[in-house]
Amino acid sequence: MTADQDLQRAKLRVEELRAQIAFHDYRYYVLNQPETSDAEYDELLRELRALEEGNPQLITPDSPTQRVGGEPVEAFGIVEHPVPLLSLANAFNEEELRAWYRRATTLAETESFAMVCEPKIDGLAVALEYREGQFAVGSTRGDGQRGENITQNLRTIRSIPLRISGGAAAAKAPARFEVRGEVFMTGAGFERMNEERAERGEPLFANPRNSAAGAVRQLDPRITAGRPLDCFVYGLGWAEGGETPASHWETLQWLSALGFKINPHIARYESIDDVWRHCQRWTGKREEPDYEIDGIVVKIDDLRLHEVLGAVGRDPRWAVAFKFPPTQRTTKLLDIRVNVGRTGSMNPFAVLEPVNIGGVTVKMATLHNEDDIKRKDVRIGDTVIVQRAGEVIPQVVGPVISKRTGKERRFVPPKKCPACKTKVVRPEGEVMRYCPNPACPAQAFGLLAHFVSRGAMDIEGIGEQLSLTLLQAGLVQAPADLYFLKKEALLELERMAEKSAQNVLDAIEVSRGRPLQRVLFALGIRHVGSETAALLAHHFGSMEALMRASPEELAAVPTIGPVVARSVHEYFRDKAHRRLIEKLRRGGVRMVAEAPAARAGPLSGQRFVITGTLAAFSRSEAEARIRSLGGATGASVTRSTDYLIAGESPGSKLEKARQYGTTILNDEELMALLRRHEAT
Ligand code: IVH
Repeated sequence: MTADQDLQRAKLRVEELRAQIAFHDYRYYVLNQPETSDAEYDELLRELRALEEGNPQLITPDSPTQRVGGEPVEAFGIVEHPVPLLSLANAFNEEELRAWYRRATTLAETESFAMVCEPKIDGLAVALEYREGQFAVGSTRGDGQRGENITQNLRTIRSIPLRISGGAAAAKAPARFEVRGEVFMTGAGFERMNEERAERGEPLFANPRNSAAGAVRQLDPRITAGRPLDCFVYGLGWAEGGETPASHWETLQWLSALGFKINPHIARYESIDDVWRHCQRWTGKREEPDYEIDGIVVKIDDLRLHEVLGAVGRDPRWAVAFKFPPTQRTTKLLDIRVNVGRTGSMNPFAVLEPVNIGGVTVKMATLHNEDDIKRKDVRIGDTVIVQRAGEVIPQVVGPVISKRTGKERRFVPPKKCPACKTKVVRPEGEVMRYCPNPACPAQAFGLLAHFVSRGAMDIEGIGEQLSLTLLQAGLVQAPADLYFLKKEALLELERMAEKSAQNVLDAIEVSRGRPLQRVLFALGIRHVGSETAALLAHHFGSMEALMRASPEELAAVPTIGPVVARSVHEYFRDKAHRRLIEKLRRGGVRMVAEAPAARAGPLSGQRFVITGTLAAFSRSEAEARIRSLGGATGASVTRSTDYLIAGESPGSKLEKARQYGTTILNDEELMALLRRHEAT
């Protein structure tokens, strides 16, 4: 084959791969309905990268490989907005909403009009320009007339199509058009990011909005690429050469057909009564989506009326933002106390004069740590701003300085643990103080309550109250004692009847089978949340393997940083902790590594059997690693076994394997095989 034919062939394959990857990105990031495994997806991307490396002339800006890794820019260029990005007038109540409607009907000389309601996303407005179907320029709102060119950063957001799709719709799309939308970060993404920042000792972002704003304005797109950003589009800025829909509702459907992500919670109504009901409903549901919304945008559906009505200053008359009532209120800070956590950390919290925020009475709020109190300069006796958002614990935002009387007092952190009176310590470089007493009752309580809680061992029927009772009665000192509880002892407790005692024991029995990741999380190791626990369990496959891991091996697990690695390592070096785990095991806790649902991977379809003792790793670790690459593991050698891994004293399985002609590997060879596949 000539070089030219080679190139032609590579080109065809490259196009095919790009189409497949774009399709999977769309399923995953826009529709939230992936239909391929991560491994298969990575395989496509890897093949594409390899082809592009070999044939750089085939690289185009809309290739999925170009989403990440663009060069850092010195500064952002300026983008002039041919049609300015407008803002929105607000309506804070029903009265104002209806006033907007009346004015618009009068000015448009009509009886009524249909309206579209959309969540008002609290993120960053962006304009996305497409030329010949390709994403060409992305910019911020700026002052509405001129924004910053953040194309490279926006390319990293997977829900923004690099090329429009949608067959017929795409074929008829205007040669050039600009889509407008909002870039945001999900609550989960925000928290994950802040956890990682805390771990690296970097300053935390105050909320998802600031976090998203910080991310899109990064000069290095590789940093943006690592941030969990997303984008909903909500309209068309302008279009040239081609047809566009005549109503806003149809525009949204049209954008969706082209591959853009539109908000799923949109609705179209014919009357303002229905619109008002929608706004009321959403006031109660604002926390439901995992992104921040601060109101409902109401837009007239008929785009001709947009022309007719125009704007007053920056605010179009054809739309209005109904704003939700605030989730912040001011109240008096009565006292600052500390609560001793399960790791012994002294967590300061605010005692407040009760205040109703969004329908919930708030009496306490978190103050995170001492540095937080200092930074915000919050003093006892201050009038403070308190914020409540979603399910999270209310927070003290800061003091209202103008209300100070001079009688306020600064918080003095206690020198002794309020629970056990042990002198507290503040490890170097940490923002928290700790009670170093491993026998501290407050820690024992925190740990037990955490151990039985829902995300951990999930022992139904043992809540905070019973945890406390069990500790006080001396029936339980540490979590492992739960697994040695006798019914007679439980029956001695107040208000504990035969039936409830049996329920508690049944729940404990069920928890013996909880997978390794739950047990790990339940141990309450500093810096190990449920996600980290799952990662560790998945990677090491067994408690023994994890306990043996060096800090380097721990830090080599993707996304596990050195701080977490050190914390895990230190935890398992502690004799008391090793005893606790031993006791859990004796109590029947199985700590089984959950076989990850047969994943597709390089070893898919291959069957492995392990026999004898392996020197390099434990059997469960070997099995977990085989399975994580898609391989299947079994106990006996059959004709369909592909590999027998023979350790020391292999026994009869070895003979059988020889008989069937199964490939036989020793553990070093297995190690090499795993390494080879794990590296790719
Ligand atoms: S429409 C003239 N729709 O709110 C129309 N804006 O206060 C203005 N926003 O800068 C845009 N969600 O960043 C529209 N569904 C939505 C929105 C939305 C959030 C933001 C947008 C705009 C600001 C206006």
